[in-house]
Amino acid sequence: MQIHTTIAGLRAALRDAGSGQRVALVPTMGNLHDGHIALMRQAREHGDSVVATIFVNRLQFRPGEDFEKYPRTFEADRQRLAEAGVDHLFAPDEAEMYPQPQGYHIDPPAEQAGILDGEFRPGHFRGMATVVMKLFQIAQPQVALFGKKDYQQLMIIRNMVRDLNLPIEIVGGETVRATDGLALSSRNGYLTEAERKEAPRLFELLTKVVAEIRAGNHDFPQLERNTVSQLKANNWLPDYVAVRKKFDLQFPSAHESGLVVLAAARLGSTRLIDNLEV
Ligand code: PAF
Repeated sequence: MQIHTTIAGLRAALRDAGSGQRVALVPTMGNLHDGHIALMRQAREHGDSVVATIFVNRLQFRPGEDFEKYPRTFEADRQRLAEAGVDHLFAPDEAEMYPQPQGYHIDPPAEQAGILDGEFRPGHFRGMATVVMKLFQIAQPQVALFGKKDYQQLMIIRNMVRDLNLPIEIVGGETVRATDGLALSSRNGYLTEAERKEAPRLFELLTKVVAEIRAGNHDFPQLERNTVSQLKANNWLPDYVAVRKKFDLQFPSAHESGLVVLAAARLGSTRLIDNLEV
């Protein structure tokens, strides 16, 4: 695996690999877990050259969020990526990505970026979309892969690519879970032992909502309220539990199909998100 810390270095290596090569890009912020590695393997099916990126993007963190303490585990990540057969790792520092304060941004529309996570993390999706657009310009991939665990992020990236006519196929990777159901996330490492035992409840409750909907219960507001109450009763602080349309995450009508149930809730000081397609 070649490691590049500069844009020029990555571009030169991809140019040397040949213009007929199909580049598959997997952007990450590092602290890699099995979910990321599954995406790398999936990327291999889509591209001749697999490019992973590691960059903790300050722009998508709000003041007071965990930018400073976000785990930076470069050596372990490098080893895992090499074992997974990744061809190129692009790991720039901040000066390489933002040599001067970023002046131009990708500003996703409020109906996509101001709802759900965007309501609780204003500006997050603007920062995320801006760095993803920069990574697309830097690596010029034919295909890019993102996990479905960040469902709203995936939807926003798909819409950005469509609206801006980027010649990039966007592929979603299934959420990888621990044996007890907890969705793998770099932030799970913040959980105390007791919180880690409690954490799978989020998945269990979402599973129940999906089962209810499949059994014909279409009273979505009541299902959402029930789930919020059960989380609160177990000392979670829920931001939202929402039944939405998969395609655009807007409110569904009562008998709509193609749904996803999404939730975000704080357990102690850790904010967890998860979702399940119905
Ligand atoms: O999902 C992530 O890890 C980040 O939001 C991404 C896509 C790498 C952009 O910084």
